[in-house]
Amino acid sequence: MSKLNGKVALVTGGADGIGAASAKALGEAGAFVFVTDINTEKAQQVADDIGVNAKALTLNVCEEENWKSVFSEIEKQFGELHILVNNAGGSGAGTIEGTSFDAYRNCMKLNVDSIFIGTQLALPLMKGKNASVINVSSIHGLRAAPHAAPYTAAKGAVTMLTKSVARYCADNGLKIRCNSLHPGYINTPQMLAWLDSQEDTEAATQALVSQHPIGFLGEPEDIASGVVFLASDDSRFMTGSELVMDGGFCL
Ligand SMILES: NC(=O)c1ccc[n+]([C@@H]2O[C@H](COP(=O)([O-])OP(=O)(O)OC[C@H]3O[C@@H](n4cnc5c(N)ncnc54)[C@H](O)[C@@H]3O)[C@@H](O)[C@H]2O)c1
Repeated sequence: MSKLNGKVALVTGGADGIGAASAKALGEAGAFVFVTDINTEKAQQVADDIGVNAKALTLNVCEEENWKSVFSEIEKQFGELHILVNNAGGSGAGTIEGTSFDAYRNCMKLNVDSIFIGTQLALPLMKGKNASVINVSSIHGLRAAPHAAPYTAAKGAVTMLTKSVARYCADNGLKIRCNSLHPGYINTPQMLAWLDSQEDTEAATQALVSQHPIGFLGEPEDIASGVVFLASDDSRFMTGSELVMDGGFCL
């Protein structure tokens, strides 16, 4: 029997990168997966790859009404949710002096407000269900990036919001764990686009690799295995923790 049989999962930003790999890994482990994204066409392709145990839904994580309709769909189909992967996020480059307040606020909206709204609305479907909320933060939720002040602030907030939710759920006997996951630099479309935008892509890639003592950048699947671990009973004694998967970046 697969370790996530009978579980219902929702992945945000599931059409590409870490989200797509996580959705596929959760499906392989036996869960039914709602693959959600603003890119519905690509989310549908991921759902098709997973097979009958998956459904693609449109979800812009910045839009509360979108979240409400997704949860209403899940309630209709299953009446419960066991795994919420708050993965959609990113952007937020710029120094404290070089970033507009609007850009900062947009970064907080995408990376933090979205998790606040989504988790708040998910709890009624997760209570008492031995459930798991997994928030994809970053190494920059633990270590500062001077070139990305908004991103560092946002991912740091995700780290601490996770702990607050974990403590609240535990104190109230809700049977919901909540952990954050902290990837190092991973070869995803978002990261590759950033490397492409650098003056010397090869030099920028080497500079990034050199910050990972393990000697290479991660693949989305390296993070997806952590998502499955946090979703399953293998991590049943973990809540409010930081799962760091970074090739030694934070050492
Ligand atoms: N790639 C890395 O090196 C890295 C490192 C640390 C943390 N992370 C974090 O991992 C998560 C996934 O990153 P990735 O590199 O796989 O990104 P990606 O750009 O490769 O994929 C992100 C997906 O999110 C979707 N998306 C974007 N805005 C959305 C919105 N408002 N609502 C719903 N979906 C939306 C995109 O359509 C895309 O399918 C992000 O939270 C990112 O900050 C990435």
